[in-house]
Amino acid sequence: MLIEDTPDVRTTLIHRADSPGGQWWRSAVIYQVYPRSFADSGGDGIGDLPGITARLGHLSRLGVDAVWLSPFYTSPQHDAGYDVADYRQVDPLFGTLEDADALLARARTLGLRVLVDLVPNHTSDEHAWFRAALPAPAGSPERARYIFRDGRGPDGAEAPNNWRSVFGGPAWTRVADADGTPGQWYLHLFDVHQPDLNWENEEVRAEFEAILRFWLDRGVDGFRVDVAHGLVKDQGFEDWAGHAEMIAGDDAGEEGVGPAPMWDQPGVHDIYRRWHEVLASYDGDRALVAEAWADTDEAMARYIRPDEMHQAFNFDFLCTEWSAPALKDSITEGLAACDSVGAPTTWVLSNHDVVRATSRLGLPATGKGPNGIGADDPQPDAELGARRARAAALLMFALPGSAYIYQGEELGLPEHTALPGDVRQDPAFWRSGYTEKGRDGCRVPLPWEADAPAFGFSPTGASWLPQPTAWAGFALDAQKGVAGSSYELFRKALRLRREFDLGTGSLAWVDGTWGPEQGLLVFTNRQVIVAVNLSDGPIPLPDGLDVILASGELRGELGHQALPADTAVWAVLED
Ligand code: NOJ
Repeated sequence: MLIEDTPDVRTTLIHRADSPGGQWWRSAVIYQVYPRSFADSGGDGIGDLPGITARLGHLSRLGVDAVWLSPFYTSPQHDAGYDVADYRQVDPLFGTLEDADALLARARTLGLRVLVDLVPNHTSDEHAWFRAALPAPAGSPERARYIFRDGRGPDGAEAPNNWRSVFGGPAWTRVADADGTPGQWYLHLFDVHQPDLNWENEEVRAEFEAILRFWLDRGVDGFRVDVAHGLVKDQGFEDWAGHAEMIAGDDAGEEGVGPAPMWDQPGVHDIYRRWHEVLASYDGDRALVAEAWADTDEAMARYIRPDEMHQAFNFDFLCTEWSAPALKDSITEGLAACDSVGAPTTWVLSNHDVVRATSRLGLPATGKGPNGIGADDPQPDAELGARRARAAALLMFALPGSAYIYQGEELGLPEHTALPGDVRQDPAFWRSGYTEKGRDGCRVPLPWEADAPAFGFSPTGASWLPQPTAWAGFALDAQKGVAGSSYELFRKALRLRREFDLGTGSLAWVDGTWGPEQGLLVFTNRQVIVAVNLSDGPIPLPDGLDVILASGELRGELGHQALPADTAVWAVLED
């Protein structure tokens, strides 16, 4: 029997299935490794490439298709490696190029693909180009690789415009000329140690195409592109009434705030068309994923037109509040926008920049959440957040398209919400004048073994951020083989997702008896029926359902079961 044939049910097909076996990235589950916090083989308390290689078996057992590695390149680490000094070298903190090759080889043996991070909006201020730009005169080719401008006001003492850094504070810093007198200003949309490159300059474009080839030649399967919406700036460099620390989307519709001159400029797309050609010149199997915080789903989808990138994170989904109508709209609109350009939708709930979903969903206001949580801030309801995050994961894995897991999400790890200020390292913490706690709370090293020093993260027990003692209960070895654990839930979800080809599947909303009006999100993907209860109380499940996976315990007798609040199930119709 089909769900469509059951009484009192209305279904609306909004996304058609692809045939399974197409390009891998259309349906892949991709696991984000944040190298400094994954596994430390050397014992200095900072994760490294050999540590990752030694733990890749975990990812293959979990059942993911690919790994994305956050930056491991040479860097003074002012922004945890997103300040790159040499794009073709591994930072000694993380290992060597040979270690990178060994990681790629091990991943290949395990059948895992590997994406690496590309940071094209800015370099480190220790990059050879920026070092050459500082002593060079205004107007020189060395300075033309960055965005140097004369200041305003008497003696050029005021910044060229009012733009602010995403991390807080001004987006311009003044440099001294060779003779020591105050000179021009350079733009940095992020930290002062991250000067923005000038993408109007053909030399910059050519260099990044060469960097792409360098890593493609080493065998990587693609790139996650950092700040993909920021490379091209409006060349007027006019003042702007918005504040650049807001993501582009936050400014939409705000009165008196025109479009952001630094985000999502039409010119960025030419860059990605060229990169598409570079990747296509390999074996047609390499992919680019855009980190593009765009105003609308349509703007996001422009990054994944057939001749541009292959995936773009659907941040609208991540930022949507925990409500059935809101999630239904977000999913419907996200799929429609991606379908309109023939691209897959790329679902994500957590990453190294946002409060972990397990904690975010336990806050009174769900949605994007604050920029970090400190001991003095309102604390999340841990039990509620954990329950919702498990339900959200089952929702995400049942959706057609690709899905990302942030390291530790499979363990149900919460945010560290009580890190003391003196251990925090995110530049957003001090650049915001300590008003924003920043992102360290989601970057705490992983617990692998409940009884080992640093929970097995490092052989010496060192850990660059302290791990909460309660994390013993979250350690991988405390969850393995334990029915109902987060790890086993994720593993089973990924196995069933593969078995039913949900990643290339369809989506039809099921309304009628159940629906968003009742606080219930119900859809079918191929023959699987997915129900998520976002209401305040249990909802009876219709008869005739064979539940194959549940994010929490169901209530009642078999055949008369109820779905508790904040719980999700996958089911098939009984024969
Ligand atoms: C986005 C990255 O995900 C984030 O961690 C970084 O701070 C900024 N881009 C700047 O590179």
